[in-house]
Amino acid sequence: MTVEKYAVIGHPIEHSKSPLIHQAFAQQFNKSIVYEKVLAPLDGFAATIARLQADGYVGANVTVPFKFEAFDACQDLSARAQAAGAVNTLSFKASQLLGDNTDGCGLVNDILKHQQTRLAGKTILLLGAGGAAQGVILPLLEQQPLQLTVANRSLDKAQAMAGRFAEDATRTQVSLQVQTFADLSQGYDVVINATSAGLTDSVLQIPAMVFQQDTLAYDMMYGRDTPFMQQARAAGARVADGLGMLVEQAAEAFYLWHGLRPDTASVIQSLRQS
Ligand code: ATR
Repeated sequence: MTVEKYAVIGHPIEHSKSPLIHQAFAQQFNKSIVYEKVLAPLDGFAATIARLQADGYVGANVTVPFKFEAFDACQDLSARAQAAGAVNTLSFKASQLLGDNTDGCGLVNDILKHQQTRLAGKTILLLGAGGAAQGVILPLLEQQPLQLTVANRSLDKAQAMAGRFAEDATRTQVSLQVQTFADLSQGYDVVINATSAGLTDSVLQIPAMVFQQDTLAYDMMYGRDTPFMQQARAAGARVADGLGMLVEQAAEAFYLWHGLRPDTASVIQSLRQS
């Protein structure tokens, strides 16, 4: 029997934990798979995809900076990929390239399952208006929070992004609001950092009052204690990093490819220990 081949494509890629995670999932079902890290040249994403497709790969994850190029390369896109405007999971079907986005689902599942926090009926503050924020809005709306506020340093970018989700907000009956950081003036049940400020250890200019005693402050970044996490902790909030999101987005990709739902808690725990 031939072993199914998968890959994660990015630039850089050496740091990626996806091979570890997918191999841990496969082991749970006694499945043998190949899952490689593939470094695509910055101008060579399309050629890399063509090579994997010709070599009989079944699927691939896509990470920075290729999620938008992957979106453009697909012949078929899931609703959540369309909403995100980006693709992190590819399935090669004959000559067709199918694109999905499991990032938002990964965030929501980590919050529900591992942070023991419900989102239905809650107030959520989403910080940032770039690709990372756009990727999680639809799955957040579908949890039917009471209110979802998108906040950014500059209002225009947040307004443009939120505007794309006006119909989804109406359908899910969520009050979708837009603010600048400077205008934030209430506490939230859940505050999610989807800015890239943590990459440069920059402090977000947000008022401490957004955090309450029982607020869940969630940074989508993992592997470092960001200024956002420090701000939230100092204000008494519960703090989580994005490691669980990473594992949960992988679990959803694993489900798309294999039709199997792996146990994620044990994988998160072993990644934390290492
Ligand atoms: P990504 O794909 O990671 O979302 P991006 O599209 O470049 O990256 O978006 C980065 C987001 O982080 C933006 O919302 C950006 O805010 P601006 O639109 O005002 O530029 C936000 N961001 C980055 N550094 C920040 C900082 N130091 N303070 C506040 N917001 C920051």
